[in-house]
Amino acid sequence: MIIRFAIGSFLLTLATVCGVTLAGSGSEKKVPVTDFGKTKDGVPVSKFVLANGKGLEAMVSTYGATLVSLKTPDRHGHPADVVLGYDSVEGYENGSSYFGGTIGRYGNRIAKGQFTLDGKLFQLPRNDGPNCLHGGKIGFNKRVWTAVDRSRADAQVLELSYTSADGEEGFPGQLEARVTYTVPANKNELRIDYEATTDKDTVLNLTNHSYFNLSGNPATDILRHELLLHAQEFTPVDATLIPTGELRAVAGTPFDFTKSTAIGARIEQADDQLKFGRGYDHNWVLEKTKKVGLQTAAEVFEPNSGRVLEVLTTEPGIQFYSGNFLDGTAIGKGGQAYAHRTGLCLETQHFPDSPNHANFPSTELKPGQTYRSSTIFQFSTR
Ligand code: GLA
Repeated sequence: MIIRFAIGSFLLTLATVCGVTLAGSGSEKKVPVTDFGKTKDGVPVSKFVLANGKGLEAMVSTYGATLVSLKTPDRHGHPADVVLGYDSVEGYENGSSYFGGTIGRYGNRIAKGQFTLDGKLFQLPRNDGPNCLHGGKIGFNKRVWTAVDRSRADAQVLELSYTSADGEEGFPGQLEARVTYTVPANKNELRIDYEATTDKDTVLNLTNHSYFNLSGNPATDILRHELLLHAQEFTPVDATLIPTGELRAVAGTPFDFTKSTAIGARIEQADDQLKFGRGYDHNWVLEKTKKVGLQTAAEVFEPNSGRVLEVLTTEPGIQFYSGNFLDGTAIGKGGQAYAHRTGLCLETQHFPDSPNHANFPSTELKPGQTYRSSTIFQFSTR
């Protein structure tokens, strides 16, 4: 009894030192955690490994609530890491590609970094040409989150929380944000649930910025990956990638992924929208396949490995970004330089620049309301 108590309190002390809070009885730690280094300011960062017995393993860091690696088996049962990222926290601190990060407060762009709410004009940092991108200069992907192990008998669960101060990066209201990663024991999927509350009217658009390369070999590009998007329309953009407000039919354009098509098949076509994005970097308007809840948004198939990724979400939109800004300068895991289009992003979201478009679904959050959003990355092989 005394020994058990001693071990329990030792684990609790160790966990507290690592910046990890244990839920429940204290000694019931289910998600293995290791040290992931320290930020430049000396804040310790942890890395958690959520795994099931079926070959899926996700590593999540408290820095940026970031998905650092995601291993899934190919059609022969051999697991490989299918997301881009860095080996250490320094990479994430110095990097500007948002690999695997939790993006907030506002994923994607806000025109001129400005919006009006309740008659008041808010100015955000302009960190992407004239616009605000991914929450400003120091977005949620560059903050250290607090982790709590919420594992259950049927799943490994890691909850990360972050309090964003009123006025942080120009956004109104103190925001309590929570991101929960779940790996179920019986399915090869990673579920991400977002929750947030505010003490003043604000705007919010949370997403995850993982770059997938389902081949498991990030030395190869993603152009042979085949993509299906459950979307009949997309939101065309201007030259600075701000939506014009139009919902344009994809039919007859290189943006038609209603039938599974290789990403590289039309990416070099002469098309103004492809020119503005330097490839695909657009928001698709998702079909409502169900009245409420999670719906299938996208399916990606990589022919060599046989891996299939299905993306389910509660969000109305998805940003498909073909890794056009990768140029070999980011040196990632294992010393791999990430060249042009070696990763693809499927960022489930509300539409870019919604605060400035009355015809887009609203991104406003008021005190007393709870923001909720869920996305599942589901893996199989063919
Ligand atoms: C998003 C944007 C892209 C690019 C990447 C990060 O997907 O839409 O334009 O900024 O993030 O490089």
